[in-house]
Amino acid sequence: MDLKNHPFITYFDTLQAEKLCQQAVVENFSSETIIFEEGEIPDYLYLVLEGQVEFSKHMGIGKNQIVAFANINEFFGEFGVLDGQPRSAKATATAGTTLAKIPCDQLMEILHQTNGGVVLNIFRHIIQRLRGTTEQLVSQVVYKEKMVLIGEMINTLIHDFKSPFTSIQLASEMLKEQHLDADTQEWCELIQAQITQMLSMADEVLEFSRGNSTLYKTPINVIDLLNRFHRLNRNYFQHTKVAFIFDAPDLTLSIDETKILRVLQNLVSNAVEAFNDQGGEIEIKVRATGNRVQIKIADNGPGIPQEIQKRLFEPFVTYGKSGGTGLGTAISQSIINAHGGEISFQSKVGAGTTFYIYLPL
Ligand SMILES: Nc1ncnc2c1ncn2[C@@H]1O[C@H](COP(=O)(O)OP(=O)(O)O)[C@@H](O)[C@H]1O
Ligand SMILES: [Mg+2]
Repeated sequence: MDLKNHPFITYFDTLQAEKLCQQAVVENFSSETIIFEEGEIPDYLYLVLEGQVEFSKHMGIGKNQIVAFANINEFFGEFGVLDGQPRSAKATATAGTTLAKIPCDQLMEILHQTNGGVVLNIFRHIIQRLRGTTEQLVSQVVYKEKMVLIGEMINTLIHDFKSPFTSIQLASEMLKEQHLDADTQEWCELIQAQITQMLSMADEVLEFSRGNSTLYKTPINVIDLLNRFHRLNRNYFQHTKVAFIFDAPDLTLSIDETKILRVLQNLVSNAVEAFNDQGGEIEIKVRATGNRVQIKIADNGPGIPQEIQKRLFEPFVTYGKSGGTGLGTAISQSIINAHGGEISFQSKVGAGTTFYIYLPL
C-alpha cells in the first residue's frame, strides 16, 4: 500500500500530507519482531501499510495476553504520542508487516498547525477504538463470570462421579480375584485401566477448577521425593514398559510436596502416554545451579507435535490422544509459578522431549 493513500495521511490537507510522508520512515518487519515493549516511552506513531500487528499485555510470570490487533489501513501508538505516557501494551509484528513510523515531535508540530477538521477526524478514530475496547472488556468480564459458574457446576458433577468410579473399580477387582479365567482377567484389567484414566482426568479438571489455592510448603528432601514418586508409579512403569531413572543430590527444598508430585505425575504421564505402549525411557535429573534448583525430566518419545508447541501450557490444548483434557501442563505451570519457579521445554519431533523446572532454593 502506498503511504500517501493511508487513511491517516488523507485526514490532512495536501501540503501537510506531503510533509508527513517525507518525515515518515517506512520499515519492513519479519514475523515476531517486537515493535515496542509495554512501558516504553513513545517515540513514534505507526501506520500499518501491510500485514498485522499484535498487542499483548504482561499478565504475571511467563504469561502474555493478546489484547488487540492493528491491520492494514489502521494506525496505532497515538495514545502515547498525545499524552506522553508509557506504552500500555507490547506490539509485535506478524510476517510481512510494513509500517510507516512518524516521529512524535514532528507529528505534534503538524497537529498544532492543522485545522479543527483534521483533529476531529483523528478524535473520531480514537473514540471508535475506545468503544471497541470497552465492548471487548465487558464481554470478557461476562465470559469470566460464566466460566466461574460452569467451573462450580463441573466441580460438583465430578465430585459426584468419583464415588461410582471407585465402586466400579472395587467391583472389578473383586471379580478379578474370584474368576481366574483368562477372559475375565483381561476384561477386568481393561475396566480398571479405563477407570484409572477417568479418575485421573477427573482429578485434573478438579485441580484446575480449584485454581491456584494456597501452597502448604514444608522442607522436603529431593531423594525422598523421587523415591516416593517411584513407589507410587512402580506398577504403572512396569505395565507400560517404561524404564525410569532418577538422579538427585541430597538436597532439601521448601515445597508443597503434594503439588510438586502432581507436576511430576502430569509430565511423566504425558511421556508415558506419548510412548503409546512402545515403551521408552524417562529420566529425572536434579541439580543445584546457583540459588535455584533445576529438575530436568527427559523422555526419548516421539516429541511434542509441532502444531501445539507454542500453546502447550495453555489450558485445553491437547493433541493426538483420546480423553486428553489439555490441563496437565497448564496445571503444572501454575503450580511451578506459584512456587516462584519457571517451567519450559525443548522437544524434537521423533527424538524426545525435555522439561526444565527451576525452583528457588
Ligand atoms: N513428553 C511428551 N511427549 C510428547 N507429547 C507430549 C509430551 N507432553 C505433552 N505432550 C503433548 O502435549 C499435549 C498436552 O498435554 P497436557 O497439557 O498434559 O494435556 P493432555 O495430556 O490432557 O492432552 C498432549 O496431548 C500431547 O500431545
Ligand atoms: Mg497430560
